[in-house]
Amino acid sequence: HHQRDQYHPYLVDIYEQLPVPFGLVRFGVAPDHPEVKNVINTFTQTARHSRCSFYGNVNVGKDVSVEELQQAYHAVVLVTTQTILPGEDLAGVYSAKDFVGWYNGLPSCQELSPDLSCETAVILGQGNVALDVARVLLSPIDILKKTDITHPALEALAESQVRRVLIVGRRGPMQVACTIKELREMVNLPDTRPEMVVADFQGVIDALKDLPRPRKRLTQLLLKTALEIPGEMEQERRNKASRTWGFRFFRSPVKVLADPDHNRTAGIRLAVNRLEGSGEGACAMLTEEVEDVSCGLVISSIGYRSVPIDPSIPFDSHKAIVPNTMGRVQQAAGLYCSGWLKTGPTGVIATTMNNSFDTARSLMEDMDSGVLHISSAKPGSQTIRALLEKRGVKPVTFSNWEKIDSVEVKRGEATGKPREKLLTVEEMLQVART
Ligand SMILES: Cc1cc2nc3c(=O)[nH]c(=O)nc-3n(C[C@H](O)[C@H](O)[C@H](O)COP(=O)(O)OP(=O)(O)OC[C@H]3O[C@@H](n4cnc5c(N)ncnc54)[C@H](O)[C@@H]3O)c2cc1C
Ligand SMILES: NC(=O)c1ccc[n+]([C@@H]2O[C@H](COP(=O)([O-])OP(=O)(O)OC[C@H]3O[C@@H](n4cnc5c(N)ncnc54)[C@H](OP(=O)(O)O)[C@@H]3O)[C@@H](O)[C@H]2O)c1
Repeated sequence: HHQRDQYHPYLVDIYEQLPVPFGLVRFGVAPDHPEVKNVINTFTQTARHSRCSFYGNVNVGKDVSVEELQQAYHAVVLVTTQTILPGEDLAGVYSAKDFVGWYNGLPSCQELSPDLSCETAVILGQGNVALDVARVLLSPIDILKKTDITHPALEALAESQVRRVLIVGRRGPMQVACTIKELREMVNLPDTRPEMVVADFQGVIDALKDLPRPRKRLTQLLLKTALEIPGEMEQERRNKASRTWGFRFFRSPVKVLADPDHNRTAGIRLAVNRLEGSGEGACAMLTEEVEDVSCGLVISSIGYRSVPIDPSIPFDSHKAIVPNTMGRVQQAAGLYCSGWLKTGPTGVIATTMNNSFDTARSLMEDMDSGVLHISSAKPGSQTIRALLEKRGVKPVTFSNWEKIDSVEVKRGEATGKPREKLLTVEEMLQVART
């Protein structure tokens, strides 16, 4: 916003609604994937840069409007994925977003306390999030207790009665949305055995040779898991396993079935589909047939959807993205977007980062070409901080966050975990301000 030195004139301020940074890397990525979270080191380096400031505990659209930010800064980049996932209101039905938020310590999901007193759980959707949830439900507690999973979730999972997890997809084995690494983790998960339906794989062996490479390898692993007679050691491992998991293909959810005597889930009605077309673009078409599956827990994991955070921002509600060209928000000079808000809710962290570099490039190009008027100074955070103070909002700085971080790490040490997360905004703010 204002020039600081001749060579590196730009300042970057980050506004975040929570008192803690890192979004889905902290609140989405599964606790048993600590290596994925190493990217936090890179983010931390950026945040500690002398020209970067972090303002946590600031809800854009509520505490400060996008318009106010635009007045204060030369450019505003929106990355505020605030996702929703359709759910149901019976006890025993959850969205993966809430379930993941619960075990990862997202403050707004701590009341969830999911009911894990049933034997069978059904997960709707066959993406990587579905597999994360399945793995967390079935992992031996000894594996989970060394991760940064929250203490309440660990206690609940230790008491869990869930022994069988069905991962339901509307299309077939050649259309699963998960990736091979995540499938392999399922296949190798200690104390579990796969339970597939052989008939679902009809014709798959013949189609294998025409599949593109990553899809081919994924399909081969599925075939091996479902059809191959296991070797002696694997057979023994499977015989000893106390828990099962399996994919169910060609099924779309119709409705959750209630236990008539209690307001809770007794099962799910699935419509049987047939595929029209082939390959990635194949469509699931409903048939007349339905099938009821008994289960006490349903977790819907059919993808995320961004929601608009400020009415002034253009929003394509069909695609659930901000309409943009290379990160430039259409018909809004000085406004950019990135993250899942720009692309829709797919892509791993690396994809999302590359996409953000593209947006940054667009912004730099616009500065060079004069599309973005940067000749006059703008007040930047100075105005915004004054506005926030007037509104009683106290931002959390990056060094405040580092206090939270060290408290969490210290709490974790006691129990051999990488960290024990603080679970409420109040507690986070209290620690940040000590
Ligand atoms: C459950 C799950 C597990 C995943 N696991 C992996 C994995 O193992 N490996 C991998 O590579 N990728 C994984 N991903 C994908 C990865 O998380 C995403 O690609 C990436 O985090 C998306 O980044 P983003 O910046 O768009 O969104 P986010 O990370 O969600 O960041 C958006 C930020 O905006 C903030 N915000 C929202 N609304 C407001 C507001 N009004 N004001 C201020 N701030 C606001 C949010 O609090 C959040 O911090 C996973 C995704 C999910 C959902
Ligand atoms: N370990 C990791 O690297 C990791 C972990 C978690 C997440 N991620 C990434 O984060 C992104 C989001 O993951 P995700 O699992 O939420 O999304 P996803 O990969 O898009 O999977 C969504 C699943 O839901 C199904 N689905 C969508 N709409 C449906 C409907 N109306 N009815 C029935 N089924 C429906 C999809 O089936 P169709 O294919 O038929 O649409 C698909 O199986 C992905 O890019 C993922 O790779 C990565």
